Amino acid sequence: MKQLIASMAFITVLMSFQTVSKKPASPVTKTTTPAAKKPATGGVVSNNLKAIMERGQNVYLINCLACHQVDGGGVPHLNAPLDGATAVKANDKAKLIRIVLKGMTDRVEIDGESYSNNMAPHPELTDQQISDVLTYVRNSWTNKASAVTQAEVKAVRAKIK
Ligand code: HEC
Repeated sequence: MKQLIASMAFITVLMSFQTVSKKPASPVTKTTTPAAKKPATGGVVSNNLKAIMERGQNVYLINCLACHQVDGGGVPHLNAPLDGATAVKANDKAKLIRIVLKGMTDRVEIDGESYSNNMAPHPELTDQQISDVLTYVRNSWTNKASAVTQAEVKAVRAKIK
């Protein structure tokens, strides 16, 4: 019995060490990784879906979050939602790529609503950043749609230049 209590106490101490040592590390690495990540071009870049989604999330947090919000819900009458949006989940990926590259200011109705803010153009993002972020928004929240490839972004960029 004594031994059992002793070993349980030991485990408790071990566990408390683990939680203490984990805490400071996670927020710091989360906020600093985007800049520290490997450059988007050149070298061997992992293309499995998990890696794409992580990279896409980083691009989203930096470039899209302010308007479209962390849950993709947008802001009523101001910024279109991306979660559940027909165009976001549709097969016309070229349209989405064009929106990211050129922005969108035409005040069209989107799923029966219109939005008064301007969608900012993001031509500075690399082909990979755009394919990653669009794959991320097409597969986040309730969305589930095929990935966008770098080749698709490249093709659209070449056309609108
Ligand atoms: C300055 C605010 C702002 C930022 C930043 C922004 N957007 Fe938008 N976005 C909008 C607005 C506003 C609309 C709707 C524009 C309209 O109605 O003309 C929109 C529309 C869209 C649409 C079309 C939605 C639909 O259903 O047709 C997509 C896709 C989109 N944004 C993706 C992105 C992505 C990806 C990023 C980040 C790379 C981003 N946006 C950054 C404000 C923003």
